[in-house]
Amino acid sequence: MAATIIDGKAFAARVRASVAAHVARMKEESGITPGLAVVLVGQDPASEVYVRAKGKATLEAGMNSYEHKLPAETSEADLLALIGRLNADPAVNGILVQLPLPKHLNSDLVINTIDPAKDVDGFHISNVGLLGTGQKAMVPCTPLGCLMMLRDHLGSLAGMDAVVVGRSNIVGKPMAQLLLGDSCTVTIAHSRTKDLAAVCRRADILVAAVGRPEMITGEMVKPGATVIDVGINRIERDGKQVLVGDVDFASTAAVAGAITPVPGGVGPMTIACLLANTVTACARANGLAEPEGLTA
Ligand code: GUN
Repeated sequence: MAATIIDGKAFAARVRASVAAHVARMKEESGITPGLAVVLVGQDPASEVYVRAKGKATLEAGMNSYEHKLPAETSEADLLALIGRLNADPAVNGILVQLPLPKHLNSDLVINTIDPAKDVDGFHISNVGLLGTGQKAMVPCTPLGCLMMLRDHLGSLAGMDAVVVGRSNIVGKPMAQLLLGDSCTVTIAHSRTKDLAAVCRRADILVAAVGRPEMITGEMVKPGATVIDVGINRIERDGKQVLVGDVDFASTAAVAGAITPVPGGVGPMTIACLLANTVTACARANGLAEPEGLTA
């Protein structure tokens, strides 16, 4: 049985079109244009690529984009002061501080200085607590994108066995909370899990977010399961640099019912969900109707 390939690029395009339609309606009905501020400290080349892509996508959705590029040696006080100004600016509905930050800056302190209502990454401890207690939160973009794809492919997730491999604050833990919120029976597995293969084989929904190239193989997957591959690993194969996920695609696609590819699966959904979170934050800040289908 060959698995269905879940096309994240096509689905992300639909989400972005839905965001753009909501933004257009917001502008027309209330004269408000959502705005996203992205802060980059230093010149990490990968981060510069991400920040450029986020700014371009924000403009394409009809929203305002504010880029703040600061030198690597920026002091913590200066960065916190900038966040304070963005918190107070009514034109800014979302604030994203690109991670990782240079080592002399305390990331937790910086993230927790962002107004939780503008925290479109969903990393602020208030949003972590709201998500964990089933209250209205800003939800981290990557797990939100995974949830949207799962709902789109499977419909109701209630009662399904879900296994999340990886326990990071950015993906694994919030993913598990979201699946619990949709009434799955959730297991979080990690590097110290005993008999990982047996745990994974129980999963109707298997989410791989460990950052280890191709570690999930076909024999670890229940026939017919839906497999979401969050990994993006650059490896050398046959003398060439290639991108692979945390899932061994060929052996898993032979067993699974559906699978997201790398690239073209979860990746494009992350930016789409950042745009969705920005329009959601703007709607909440202004007491307007929230976009349907774009929240947890
Ligand atoms: N660096 C890599 N991924 C992310 C992300 O989702 N948000 C932020 N702020 N920084 C990142």
